Amino acid sequence: MRTANRIANLPPYLFAEIDRKAGLKRAQGIDVISLGIGDPDRPTPERIVQAMGRAIHDPANHRYPSYYGAQKYREACSAWMKRRFGVDVDPDTETLALIGSKEGIAHLFLAFVDPGDVTLVPGAGYPVYHTGGILAGGETYFMPMTEENGFLADFESTPKDVLARAKMMFLSYPNNPTSAIANEEYFDRAIAFAREHDILLVHDNAYSEIGFDGYVPPSFLERPGAKDVAIELFSCSKAYNMTGWRVAFACGNATALKALGTVKSNIDSGVFTAVQDAAIEAFAGPQSEIDALCALYQRRRDLVMEALGKIGIEAHPPEATIYVWPKVPAGYTSASFAEHILEKANVIVPAGSAYGPSGEGYIRISLTTPDDRLAEAILRIEASL
Ligand SMILES: Cc1ncc(COP(=O)(O)O)c(C=O)c1O
Repeated sequence: MRTANRIANLPPYLFAEIDRKAGLKRAQGIDVISLGIGDPDRPTPERIVQAMGRAIHDPANHRYPSYYGAQKYREACSAWMKRRFGVDVDPDTETLALIGSKEGIAHLFLAFVDPGDVTLVPGAGYPVYHTGGILAGGETYFMPMTEENGFLADFESTPKDVLARAKMMFLSYPNNPTSAIANEEYFDRAIAFAREHDILLVHDNAYSEIGFDGYVPPSFLERPGAKDVAIELFSCSKAYNMTGWRVAFACGNATALKALGTVKSNIDSGVFTAVQDAAIEAFAGPQSEIDALCALYQRRRDLVMEALGKIGIEAHPPEATIYVWPKVPAGYTSASFAEHILEKANVIVPAGSAYGPSGEGYIRISLTTPDDRLAEAILRIEASL
């Protein structure tokens, strides 16, 4: 059997080797703690589960869903954008339901990237910004991100010949994996840049609801002119502990969303309408669980920062997201430190380099593990050093 070259061109799966080794350890009865995946450990709020319970008994929901999202779902997304950010998006032309934002990201490449086209991707970012491009026959240009520039992807230093072939650019703040946040001035520069070079800007706002110490992440679409050049992705996954439900939405530039909708209508058949009903409850119902969720992650952030400080591992305290991004101690690379932690402490952490070249020198700690396990993991790391 001969598989396509595009499969061979994909980099090795982020967690494949770590998963294999962790599996071997677990088979020997060793207690392995994973601080790897950003998958909330708390359940979906009961009001949303109840809404799903009602929706699943409605036979109208058992049929094919709308390709683009039910009218009432798109209206709920639009109303949430208005309430949460003061941003107007037309439910008919400027919102689109997604089967999780990952699906939207991957399919955007089919809508915008022809073989040989370039996508500008954060130097450390969600891996699908890169792998989605490979699957579409495109090329990735990793925009440098450094601690000195606050991990803001440096689009302005992109070489001219790369820019001439660039069709799309991803930004994502609050950022996975660095947990950096961006200010309005940076967003405005990005809009001007995208306009000047005729590039679709995709702002992935997967962590829009997770902020600490009073920080409330903004929408990119709050900035003047953003909708002319950009779409933004929002997800129920982290905001409402709904990673398993697969529901999100894109909003913003109507031309871009039409192109994405065309791709999707030829590939998938939309989000299960009962799941859309549950997501309507998520967006339209009381939002107080989000405060509790942020308080939970903030407490875990403090616990991790204090423990890291004690063992002399440097990290900037995150103001948002569910990740801490510590520097690896001298003498290690990202990969060798992640390997050391797995071997000596039986703790899984991803190497920063797995998120792109700017991730070298860091590891990522996810705060989606119960407090006692998180504390135990840090103690074990300390003992291994
Ligand atoms: C930056 C970013 N974008 C997108 C996703 C995918 O989210 P979803 O569950 O909506 O597909 C993740 C998941 O971790 C993420 O970190």
